[in-house]
Amino acid sequence: MPVIVEHDPHVISRLARSMPSGTHSVAGVAPLRAWMDTHHDEYAVVLGPGLPLQDALDVAESMRYTRPSTTVVLVRDELDTSVLYRAMHAGCRDVVLLEDEKELTEALDRAGQLWSALHSGTSATGAGGQGRVVTVFSPKGGVGKTTTSVNLALALADKGSRKVCLMDLDLAFGDVAITMQLFPSHTIEEAIGGEDAIDFAMIESLLTRHEQSLMVLAAPSLPDARDRVTATLVARMLRTLKEQFDYVVVDTSPNFDEQTLQALDETDDCVIVATLDVPTLKNVKVALETLDLLGIAQGNRHLVLNRADDAVGLSPEKVEQILGMEITTAIPSSTDIAAATNAGRPIVVANPTHPASRAFTALASTLTGDPVAADSPSREGRSSDNDDTERRGRWRRNKR
Ligand SMILES: Nc1ncnc2c1ncn2[C@@H]1O[C@H](COP(=O)(O)OP(=O)(O)OP(=O)(O)O)[C@@H](O)[C@H]1O
Ligand SMILES: [Mg+2]
Repeated sequence: MPVIVEHDPHVISRLARSMPSGTHSVAGVAPLRAWMDTHHDEYAVVLGPGLPLQDALDVAESMRYTRPSTTVVLVRDELDTSVLYRAMHAGCRDVVLLEDEKELTEALDRAGQLWSALHSGTSATGAGGQGRVVTVFSPKGGVGKTTTSVNLALALADKGSRKVCLMDLDLAFGDVAITMQLFPSHTIEEAIGGEDAIDFAMIESLLTRHEQSLMVLAAPSLPDARDRVTATLVARMLRTLKEQFDYVVVDTSPNFDEQTLQALDETDDCVIVATLDVPTLKNVKVALETLDLLGIAQGNRHLVLNRADDAVGLSPEKVEQILGMEITTAIPSSTDIAAATNAGRPIVVANPTHPASRAFTALASTLTGDPVAADSPSREGRSSDNDDTERRGRWRRNKR
């Protein structure tokens, strides 16, 4: 249903003539927020001429991020190019004159069609059907899970060519948002207790958009919310998200807690992060055995060796031998990675031709099954990253 924002009853009834019967109206911005918080299937918001222009633009701007599939239509008594420009810039999809009832009806038809396309799985990007859940896991802290999750999600999104959602399931100490310099107004915490009411519109209202057309479901801002996020909630959210996104990348905490186990259970591809130190390798080995026992992501596990060039007396071949699996991608150690993280611009965005960015892009190609283009940075990176041609081939092999 559309919702009208207008205080003048005469204008409301005039607008309502062009809208479906039963259309609700609210008198201003605050009641609109309250209404939208509890109504997740409003496909259009019609901002009447009684709403001051700046308030209307602020609503459009914030809804662009919080409710991207809801169309904002601005209605004015008069129009000039300056209003048109500002409205479009703020994210209004249509601007119509109050007197032009036909134009408003058409704008609402378009809004309804867009909503249906986005919510039926046949998305505007043509995704459709089931996406894949990619969980990035390691039983050790600080090995590069978040760095891998964020850069992999960006590489998969490939500037908008795929729909990707990044879910921060490090529920106590999640730092995906800060790594991407996002300041989420909503987090997964707001879904707590809503297991039975999960639908995409509800989850969508909790997502934060990253500038690179990637959506982020942020972790709670305080650690105590962790225990209230149930495994059922995690499962239902992942199942709903994968209907709408091509890839749902899940960053995790370094524990086999119930939420992580549930995510792993829903996982299509598991990216395991290891580094060149014996305690980590021992724990990764145990974790792999646990995944075997649980039958998780058999045949779809990908090993990322982070800080692969650290001179610590352990070779990548030894790692493969210990873990009994091939390295999919080797990420070099580089202060550029940490610097990019600290600046809030992950390395694949800050420097797409950096060897680490090439490695993350290659990992994304492994997951999508798309060959690395001949002129892409990923392929160029092979000759400069490492001299051992045979080993390089194995690390970058497409396993799907
Ligand atoms: N290849 C690398 N070279 C240099 N620094 C790196 C590399 N990978 C990760 N880092 C840095 O190491 C730190 C830990 O990385 P990250 O936060 O990704 O690990 P994590 O496994 O998610 O940690 P936690 O278990 O605490 O969530 C960060 O400061 C990150 O910038
Ligand atoms: Mg982390």
